[in-house]
Amino acid sequence: MKNHLLKMLDLDKEDIIEILNLADQLKYENLYDIEHKRLKGKTLGMIFQKSSTRTRVSFETGMYQLGGQALFLSSNDLQIGRGEPVEDTARVLSRYLDGIMIRTFEQKEVEDLAKYGSIPIINGLTDFSHPCQVLADLMTIREYKGSFDGLKMCYIGDGNNMANSLIVGGLKVGMAASVACPEGYHPADEVLEFAKGFDNFTLTDDIMLAAKDADVLLTDVWASMGQEGEAQKRKEVFKGYQINDDVLSVAKADAMVMHCLPAHREEEITAKVFEAHAKEIFDEAENRLHAQKAVLVKLLENDKG
Ligand code: CP
Ligand code: NVA
Repeated sequence: MKNHLLKMLDLDKEDIIEILNLADQLKYENLYDIEHKRLKGKTLGMIFQKSSTRTRVSFETGMYQLGGQALFLSSNDLQIGRGEPVEDTARVLSRYLDGIMIRTFEQKEVEDLAKYGSIPIINGLTDFSHPCQVLADLMTIREYKGSFDGLKMCYIGDGNNMANSLIVGGLKVGMAASVACPEGYHPADEVLEFAKGFDNFTLTDDIMLAAKDADVLLTDVWASMGQEGEAQKRKEVFKGYQINDDVLSVAKADAMVMHCLPAHREEEITAKVFEAHAKEIFDEAENRLHAQKAVLVKLLENDKG
């Protein structure tokens, strides 16, 4: 595995499986109160330019459980929020910290932190990518289904950071990936370019076709963070791009339903389907903790900074 986690495109299948295996082990150890202070004395800085519940709390708790500590750094309070360049912030923070998790808008900012800093950088969500979420999603799918072999994953909704990361992650581990997005809201070109090489990838605006015989159905909000001004327009565009009973009726009888959260009931998913699949959805949220701890151990444990 590389020194950073910037996007799913950077991981190969072996990296993903190694992270998932370690995540399973850490989850087991956590369940049985087996101490695993593998990051004793290490500090993770967490830069947030957008809101967060799961990412912030799971990273902070994860670092604590691993024997290290995490610093919450709101961009409103950092000089970066007043225009200090990323390349300077990266070089300064590299002198204090052992790793940085950043949630921001542009993927370039995350890539620049990695370029100019000298410590591991973890993408905690950009407009392009959400690799930590997708590692937790893959962990959850494997937990429920036993393996990825022969599975069909279906994503319905906006071709956003989640779609981009799920397509790459799903295809890399060997699942078929079927994606339903409206015209004009497709996944990123870079992702479609990657997916072109797979004959088990489908992009369509036909929701039922995408969901047919799916083992896993996933969705995400119609308007992501930073798109609040487009929310009304998007409600029109995405009408029907919803996981509901009709969609479920064409998927496999034992299909999982997943959502990265936060969810908007009656928009991308009905309240009924959400509650019927709450177990999977909240296991998925829990697995953020375990999957990220695995990433932290892989990147920080033996890193000399
Ligand atoms: N799914 C996710 O990343 O949640 P938060 O925005 O609460 O961190
Ligand atoms: N696509 C959503 C994911 C939130 C976890 C967003 O970027 O707001």
